[in-house]
Amino acid sequence: MRVLVLTGAGVSAESGIPTFRGKDGYWKNFDPTRLATPEAFARDPQLVWEWYSERRQRIRNARPNAAHEAVARLTRHLGDFLLVTQNVDDLHARAGIPAERMVQIHGDIFVTRCSRCEFKRYDYEPEQERAVPNCPDCHALMRPGVVWFGEQLPWNELKRVENFLDGGACDVTIVAGTTATFGYIIDWALQASRGGELIEVNPEETPLSRLATRLLREPAAIALPRIVDQLISARHPRL
Ligand code: APR
Repeated sequence: MRVLVLTGAGVSAESGIPTFRGKDGYWKNFDPTRLATPEAFARDPQLVWEWYSERRQRIRNARPNAAHEAVARLTRHLGDFLLVTQNVDDLHARAGIPAERMVQIHGDIFVTRCSRCEFKRYDYEPEQERAVPNCPDCHALMRPGVVWFGEQLPWNELKRVENFLDGGACDVTIVAGTTATFGYIIDWALQASRGGELIEVNPEETPLSRLATRLLREPAAIALPRIVDQLISARHPRL
């Protein structure tokens, strides 16, 4: 069985991480052009850095939920599987998804990288300093290792998604917890699901809903464990 799973902020909502466009979403309370663009960082790096520090702390205090755990369980039963997440949090990883089975297409909030040169590092521990750190190589400002509005997707990660999709259509494609705001999410879901099942898990309608073969208008932590049970039992009928 070949499976692609695409996730968004909705799968981390039940871990206490706000979504972006939901009721109390980040973009309902904050202006993304002041916090999540290269121009915003150039204008006020301290403001942007502090906002990401707060988000990192909230994520450190959070735990993977049943949705993250269900997807991790699926990876243990399937050879032909890829998770593509838009989430920059580490909850999928903490639930046990190996890095080689997951693509964080919008980056990782615990990676910081130089805003000028190629230097980057993994910074999980809380920042000692409030101030925006400087690059140890070129002294330019370090920035969060996430993809901001108006920026290109990371080339290597994009290649990994395309290589997986070039491997052929999937029996099952699951899209959970995303408004599918970006065209590439819709394209990948359609490319992967041609001739197979496209399951949308989302309490609300999205542009993908009318293209789905199955709609689950439920929270991901409820729906995903059930779907995964079904897929695993379909794969191992005698288990
Ligand atoms: N279970 C499943 N889905 C949920 C849940 C839940 N418990 N709670 C909310 N949702 C759904 C909402 O109905 C909404 O459709 O999750 C979706 C969250 O959508 P967004 O906030 O738009 O998040 P996402 O689609 O991941 O955003 C994409 O936009 O802001 C940028 O880079 C950021 O990666 C992000 C990208």
